[in-house]
Amino acid sequence: MTQNTEHTERTRVSTVVVTGASGRTGSRVAAAARAAGLTVRAATRARGFDWRDRSTWEAALRGADAAYLVHPLDVGAPDAPEAVGGLAREAVRLGVRRLVLLSARGEERARPTERALAESGAEWTVVRAAWFAQNFSEGPLVEEIRAAGELVFPGGAVREPFVDVRDVADVAVAALTGGERYVRRTVEVSGPRLLSFGEAIAEIAAATGRELVYRAVSARDYGERMAAFGLPPEEVEFLVELFASLLDGHNAHLSDGVRQVLGRAPRDFGDVVREAAADGVWKP
Ligand SMILES: NC(=O)c1ccc[n+]([C@@H]2O[C@H](COP(=O)([O-])OP(=O)(O)OC[C@H]3O[C@@H](n4cnc5c(N)ncnc54)[C@H](OP(=O)(O)O)[C@@H]3O)[C@@H](O)[C@H]2O)c1
Repeated sequence: MTQNTEHTERTRVSTVVVTGASGRTGSRVAAAARAAGLTVRAATRARGFDWRDRSTWEAALRGADAAYLVHPLDVGAPDAPEAVGGLAREAVRLGVRRLVLLSARGEERARPTERALAESGAEWTVVRAAWFAQNFSEGPLVEEIRAAGELVFPGGAVREPFVDVRDVADVAVAALTGGERYVRRTVEVSGPRLLSFGEAIAEIAAATGRELVYRAVSARDYGERMAAFGLPPEEVEFLVELFASLLDGHNAHLSDGVRQVLGRAPRDFGDVVREAAADGVWKP
């Protein structure tokens, strides 16, 4: 065997553990990985994997070559560095060397989590994503838009290049299957266009034919609303600070990670919206 072949054998990925496989990005990573010919092992709580219970980690990881890591709630959450670092070290111990972490673009709080991954000894890639386009069509914001016809959010008039989670997933799978190319690299991905939250809601209104309103509130007022919906105080505090720091305008620029890795333009917010509208996502 030549040195090159040895190298390829060592970096070839055939079984990938997908955390968050029932969520927005993980479900697409699982689909894209299967389409790329990989065997996917979904690691969700229903399958016995829990980020908060280390005794569940070994069974999820053993025998795999790679993993896609999605920390629940937020990659910058206070417990994320320890959880991601701990899981990454356990993965390396078990021979699961190739790890791709979903992180967030422009989120300083996420950096300790990224460092914990890098210090684990893994062959790591960090994919820092902009706000997901699917935040409007899947997850906590949908019900309010659908039922009340409005979005109350602390996004002011700030513009954000919303990214399609399918592009995030395609980049993650390209990193997993790309051999050495993306090892020890950080890739920043965004959509192709800056939109304010008001403009995003206007595009959803146009696609659905409904009158929809965006109401900007302060992060603090938004926190009070979340608390009234029963979110635990420490989670509210974290999200208030996170939104205030992310939505101050410093992220209002495009990133070209999708083109760098996939050699094509990112999908547009309008396409995500038209597809979700056709599926009746925002039908009252
Ligand atoms: N939203 C954005 O715009 C954005 C942008 C950049 C980065 N991010 C990052 O994206 C991540 C969230 O990813 P996502 O939106 O793809 O996920 P998601 O749709 O919020 O789904 C969360 C996933 O985590 C799993 N999960 C929750 N608690 C768990 C636990 N204790 N143990 C094991 N699995 C658990 C859930 O699976 P089960 O409930 O089935 O167990 C589910 O699959 C966060 O780290 C966030 O920082 C988000």
